[in-house]
Amino acid sequence: MKKILFILLTFFVLTGCEYEIIHPKPIDIPTDTPLSFADDILPIFDGCVSCHTSISPQFGSPDIYNILIADYINVEVPEESSLYLKLTTAGDSHEGKTTAEQNAYILEWIKQGAENN
Ligand code: HEC
Repeated sequence: MKKILFILLTFFVLTGCEYEIIHPKPIDIPTDTPLSFADDILPIFDGCVSCHTSISPQFGSPDIYNILIADYINVEVPEESSLYLKLTTAGDSHEGKTTAEQNAYILEWIKQGAENN
């Protein structure tokens, strides 16, 4: 009896240690066709407007492009754009507010020159 218990226990301990390697889905963003601020980037901010009416940046403002360019976008070093850092820095209040794919779109749009297109 003890032996069976031991075998069973060993079995559960061993199988319990199995793990699955989860491969994150590769993010497929177009880098050869220009991204559009109006079509690809602005819709990402839909869920931001509720809070950002009085808080900067005011995503609902018709002037949002200029606001972003003035203070939140760094075309020279896209990865250091404060908008991008806000959404991607681990532990920031905004971590998880956007998906990895949305962040990749924002970064690619900035790399392409952050145009008002
Ligand atoms: C639940 C309310 C809320 C939502 C939703 C929200 N924000 Fe914010 N956001 C804040 C608050 C409050 C601050 C200021 C404090 C802080 O940095 O957390 C802020 C700060 C920021 C800042 C920095 C502003 C500055 O001048 O330094 C950026 C950039 C920003 N938010 C972008 C976004 C984006 C993009 C979204 C949507 C994906 C979003 N926020 C959604 C509440 C919100």
